[in-house]
Amino acid sequence: MDTEKIVLDVEKLTKKYIGEACEVEALKNVSFKLHKGEMIAVMGTSGSGKSTLLNILGALDEPTSGSIRLNGQYNKDLFREPSASLYRQENIGFVFQSFNLLKDLSVEENMGLPLILKNVDKETIKLKVKDMLELMGLTSWNKHRPIQLSGGQQQRVAIGRAIITAPPIVLADEPTGNLDFNTSTEILRILVNMKEQFKHSILLVTHDPTVATYADRVLFFHDGQIVDDYVCGKQNDLDYILQAFKNITERSKK
Ligand SMILES: Nc1ncnc2c1ncn2[C@@H]1O[C@H](COP(=O)(O)OP(=O)(O)O)[C@@H](O)[C@H]1O
Ligand SMILES: [Mg+2]
Repeated sequence: MDTEKIVLDVEKLTKKYIGEACEVEALKNVSFKLHKGEMIAVMGTSGSGKSTLLNILGALDEPTSGSIRLNGQYNKDLFREPSASLYRQENIGFVFQSFNLLKDLSVEENMGLPLILKNVDKETIKLKVKDMLELMGLTSWNKHRPIQLSGGQQQRVAIGRAIITAPPIVLADEPTGNLDFNTSTEILRILVNMKEQFKHSILLVTHDPTVATYADRVLFFHDGQIVDDYVCGKQNDLDYILQAFKNITERSKK
């Protein structure tokens, strides 16, 4: 089965931030596999290493040790330029809590940006942007500026921009963190549809147990480590996730 395919094989990642006064071990021996068409939610308290993990998987930051295999291939230069940029351009779509749209560009210009950076010809860009606007339900908003849009619409622009180059992996750091419940649900449905229809592999960081129930698996982080790995659908997911999250929150207080 296609979904058995391992897209990212993460092995023993560690990350130490070394400051003048102290050293922080943000990731300790983190290993897991992300399959094709799989959505993994990453949950953990603030400071548990979630963003650090996403930044490393997106080659925005370099691990202290450990490795990432993409489609079974190990690239020893992955975290160095120009490999890092190339890896990002070909494989990764980023979605952020704060949307990170360019305020002076229109909706269609924001969406088409990754294609411009890849030197795709204008005609192809026009067609792809048109399709993406339709997919995200934003066709009549194409000429608007981000500020004229609601939060949910802005996140739809950001998701469209993230997947317009059809990257196999989408890394989303709290994508619903600034949205109300109904809008979050709408964004989550889009993400679920992306993995089902286009087989994107999605890693989604969230602190919201309801959001995590949309995933296939939930990795619970505590103090830079995976302390629980839950496959959804085995029981009442929300009950399990609420309890597991409560457990790590309590551990963090100690
Ligand atoms: N650039 C950095 N320099 C030093 N310490 C950092 C840096 N980024 C993150 N950290 C530290 O690493 C730990 C994990 O941070 P982060 O990955 O942002 O956690 P989370 O996203 O789960 O809230 C925290 O203790 C944080 O203070
Ligand atoms: Mg974070």
